[in-house]
Amino acid sequence: MKIFLDSANIESIKKYNDMGILDGVTTNPTLLSKEKGDPRDVMNEIVRTIRGPVSLEVIGTDYEVMMDEAHKLKKYGQNVVVKVPMIPAGLRAVRSLKEDGIPTNVTLVFSSNQAILAAKAGAAYISPFIGRLDDNGQDGINIIREIGQIFSNYKFETEILVASIRHPLHVIEAGKCGADIVTLPPDILHKMLMHPLTDVGLSNFISDWKKVRDMNPDLVF
Ligand code: G3P
Repeated sequence: MKIFLDSANIESIKKYNDMGILDGVTTNPTLLSKEKGDPRDVMNEIVRTIRGPVSLEVIGTDYEVMMDEAHKLKKYGQNVVVKVPMIPAGLRAVRSLKEDGIPTNVTLVFSSNQAILAAKAGAAYISPFIGRLDDNGQDGINIIREIGQIFSNYKFETEILVASIRHPLHVIEAGKCGADIVTLPPDILHKMLMHPLTDVGLSNFISDWKKVRDMNPDLVF
């Protein structure tokens, strides 16, 4: 399972990248709007920090505008993946961008039918938003299971990038479904890292070793 950070916050990106647990980053206009400074500088720094794929999203909804923005976004770096919305003009852009050698991530996917069409158009990744489906009274994980089965039946190469993840159990469920990638907000990644028994266990190791050191002050490894 690959782990992406769903954030445009450079401190968080650097922190988790330094741990060696990040395979990529996804951004969107909302995430960029939360950061200070020129968004172009933010995007540049993310692309330079991360070796793996970095999704940068188009803003336009017309084919020509999306194509123009996609080519401009790709200039930020070789590892840029252009995020395109799941709309008819978006799929046309996905098709053309594939011909231009630019990988795409189709975002705002809320059904298995949309996932099939995005894969057929040539998306490198599709992003089903499972948390927003849960919010809407639908089982988000269920579409990950369905899409996984369909893509596997037909050997589609498009990767399933599970987005809108709200808690660590979503990650486990996505993994059980065999999803290729989960993209996680920093707070979910933090929750995955932490466990109270780890803290208690470490505190005990430190205090027990202190007793040994008190009896053998010159002890070094
Ligand atoms: O990558 C898309 C994701 O950020 C959406 O998450 O929590 O806004 O539904 P959320």
